[in-house]
Amino acid sequence: GHVLVLAGGLSYEREVSLRSGRRVSEVLRAAGVDVETRDTDAGLVPSVLADPPDAVFVTLHGGSGEDGAIRSVLELLELPYVGAGPDACRVAFDKPTAKSVVRSVGLRTPDSVTLPKETFHDLGASAVLTRIVERLGLPLFVKPARGGSALGASMVRTAEDLPASMVGCFAYGDTALIERYIDGVEVSVSVVDLGDGPIALPPVEIVADGGAYDYAARYTAGRTEFFAPARLSPETIAACEATAVIAHTALGLRDISRTDLIVDASGECHFLEVNVAPGMTETSLFPMAVESAGRDFGSLCRGLLTVAAN
Ligand code: DAL
Ligand code: MG
Repeated sequence: GHVLVLAGGLSYEREVSLRSGRRVSEVLRAAGVDVETRDTDAGLVPSVLADPPDAVFVTLHGGSGEDGAIRSVLELLELPYVGAGPDACRVAFDKPTAKSVVRSVGLRTPDSVTLPKETFHDLGASAVLTRIVERLGLPLFVKPARGGSALGASMVRTAEDLPASMVGCFAYGDTALIERYIDGVEVSVSVVDLGDGPIALPPVEIVADGGAYDYAARYTAGRTEFFAPARLSPETIAACEATAVIAHTALGLRDISRTDLIVDASGECHFLEVNVAPGMTETSLFPMAVESAGRDFGSLCRGLLTVAAN
């Protein structure tokens, strides 16, 4: 049999996804797996029905790859795949909803306001923004409620910067999440489950050159410095790991996920978001965490597919 790696798609993260798909396909081939790599298009369903893969690795980021849509189709086709099911994806991909779920199980997550574009305009943008600044303080972090790779996301240091940030955000999505900015260390924790329950990989600390871990800092080699494991105390590392496993479990995720969080000066973890299809590119955090755990990325991907297929 063979496995199918799905990559590309039509989200804003298409280019990232193509890179993730290429990397996963390469390491799987090196691990001796027969791999077919495909984009999502009208030819996909007939071709998988004609020659069904043993399992599918979804490396589609943003949009249909993470919002549950593609996974609903995989369920319909009765194809096993690596990663969370459609219902869990719908919840996890919507950042405000994911925040309320993790808050309900006791995790900290920055206070925020969620604002759809229409409401924002209907109510008179400036009055609403003034109230948000009064309520949440400054700085703020603005991002699309359903996005990824920091596209449309920006930090807001003064009230005057907020309108432009909102416009930048609405270019990438119809709902904005405006969060209180937590100063601290940016950490990302990957979780894997090979059938024995979710395990956190070593937390990776992110130090973006110039401060902002934006799209360029994410996908340009050398633009960001990573520390794996993070330069934190053993207790704080354990707290980061626990946060990611609790989020993974509370959101009903499966197989893999990656939780992004901030550790503040007192060592408290603040959940920012979870990724159900974490980036798998040469500069991405998930493969880095796997390697820092002393594991082979290709064998892990193969293992995930084997577990999914059985
Ligand atoms: N959304 C990108 C792919 C990531 O979180 O890695
Ligand atoms: Mg993300």
